[in-house]
Amino acid sequence: MTLEQEIQRRKTFGIISHPDAGKTTLTEKLLLFGGAIQTAGAVKSNKIDMHARSDWMDIEKQRGISVATSVMGFEYKDLKINILDTPGHQDFAEDTYRTLTAVDSVIMVIDCVKGVEVQTEKLMEVCRMRNTPVLCFINKLDREGRDPFELLDEIEDKLDIRVRPLSWPVGMGKGFRGVYNLYENNLNLFEPGKTKKTEDVIEIKGVDDPSLEKYLPDSAMGQLREDIELVEGVYDPFEVETYLNGTTAPVFFGSAVNNFGVRELLDCFIQIAPNPKPRETEEREIKPLEDRFSGFIFKIHANMDPRHRNRIAFVRVCSGKFQRGSNYYHVRQDKTFRFSNATAFMAQQKETIDQAFPGDIVGLYDTGNLKIGDTLSEGEKGLYKGIPSFSPELFKEVINLDAMKAKQLEKGLLQLMDEGVAQLFSYEMGVRKVVGTVGALQFEVLQHRLQHEYGARVKFDPVNIYKACWIHANDDEKLDAFVKDKYRHIARDKEGKLVFMAESKAWLQMVQENFPEIEFHFISEF
Ligand code: G4P
Repeated sequence: MTLEQEIQRRKTFGIISHPDAGKTTLTEKLLLFGGAIQTAGAVKSNKIDMHARSDWMDIEKQRGISVATSVMGFEYKDLKINILDTPGHQDFAEDTYRTLTAVDSVIMVIDCVKGVEVQTEKLMEVCRMRNTPVLCFINKLDREGRDPFELLDEIEDKLDIRVRPLSWPVGMGKGFRGVYNLYENNLNLFEPGKTKKTEDVIEIKGVDDPSLEKYLPDSAMGQLREDIELVEGVYDPFEVETYLNGTTAPVFFGSAVNNFGVRELLDCFIQIAPNPKPRETEEREIKPLEDRFSGFIFKIHANMDPRHRNRIAFVRVCSGKFQRGSNYYHVRQDKTFRFSNATAFMAQQKETIDQAFPGDIVGLYDTGNLKIGDTLSEGEKGLYKGIPSFSPELFKEVINLDAMKAKQLEKGLLQLMDEGVAQLFSYEMGVRKVVGTVGALQFEVLQHRLQHEYGARVKFDPVNIYKACWIHANDDEKLDAFVKDKYRHIARDKEGKLVFMAESKAWLQMVQENFPEIEFHFISEF
């Protein structure tokens, strides 16, 4: 197969949702359709069970499961589908944001009882930053949920995206009878307790087809016809272009656990979802079809066993062909490395691979040379853009409890930051170091790992910081003047970028008013 054919048959996407909406269940059903797994229950949830935890190591063990399930490749109808799973627990939200940089599109699962939840809104913001195409799956139609039109309005309102239903539920909860496929104009009837197969689809010629009467009672049929008329009246006809540019989200209804409405979703997805797209480096846009390999690292998973300190770096292939055993150029370090140990992720397993194509995710064993955001290439120097850091939510000062171990602490902190466990801010004045995280869990993780892997004992003291703001000004003198004025609150992130550590929202607003020529960003790339 040519490189172009390989690219054309690849679809790489992420599944995201608020915890419990049904992400794991849907992933499993997609794998079942693809024949990648044979039995239900094979996909382990990477959800973290907070009630069962006794300490964070348990959580890490639970999280370890997610290495196997964090990328799942399978073949479906001659296509190579790569699903990137995202951690359910919100303390690991940063992981999810980074994973979204490695996908070409997203399927968002929404619970029909709960509607759009907080985590869904945050994830959508990240999708919007890169105009990632989003497809919605409204799940759990076997439960008494909210009115479908109301749910669609809520998606438009809260997620700030236009919607276009491509399937429609016939009833809901106890009265759930099936989904009408607006994309293909056919009907799939639901039989509770049974797993539907693709052959069961009833081909009909639109909702006015009289044969519909054979399958649905009068009341359900009347309601469906009324609903469809309203759908066609209210929503613009579906145009793939508006989906691909991220302005419209096609919406499907179903029940993942009953395997219902999933085929409609998957079969439409493979037709409309984008193939691997070109990506920007600092120097130029690189197209997947280019001969020379390039890719970037979006995730690093550490081996928790201190005797085996190797880690797996997840590389998204962006152009050319990756070949195991080849020498590739590490742009940040300006060095060439040979990668003889490369892994692909197929369904539930890792397996050694010899080559990979744009859209694929390759796992590289690493002993500390790679970090999140790194670019590998066949000589090209530009770094891939687009793995920004977001301002953390919680901040604490690192206090070294063992002066003899300052070097180990420094090394440990830097390596753990490279893995993306947390963010480090070093103050310009003095030696103060502040760590920022999304959730409280990461402080436990850091403390434990610093001690057990690097022999450095630390504690974390509270500090009064509201947000880390990356600062910029078009006029360097103005920026210098600001930094001088606020030097006590100026730090650098791990890339050396200037950050203003704002103590409160009100104070930040005041500073912004006083220094109108300075830009304050809650994100490191702008
Ligand atoms: P997540 O990965 O998004 O966190 O969600 P997950 O798939 O683990 O699903 C959360 C719960 O919702 C699970 O129940 C799952 O069985 C249930 N679920 C998923 N899809 C549907 C659906 O279409 N209808 C209904 N009624 N429930 C659904 P659980 O009790 O937490 O776990 P389990 O013991 O059933 O596995």
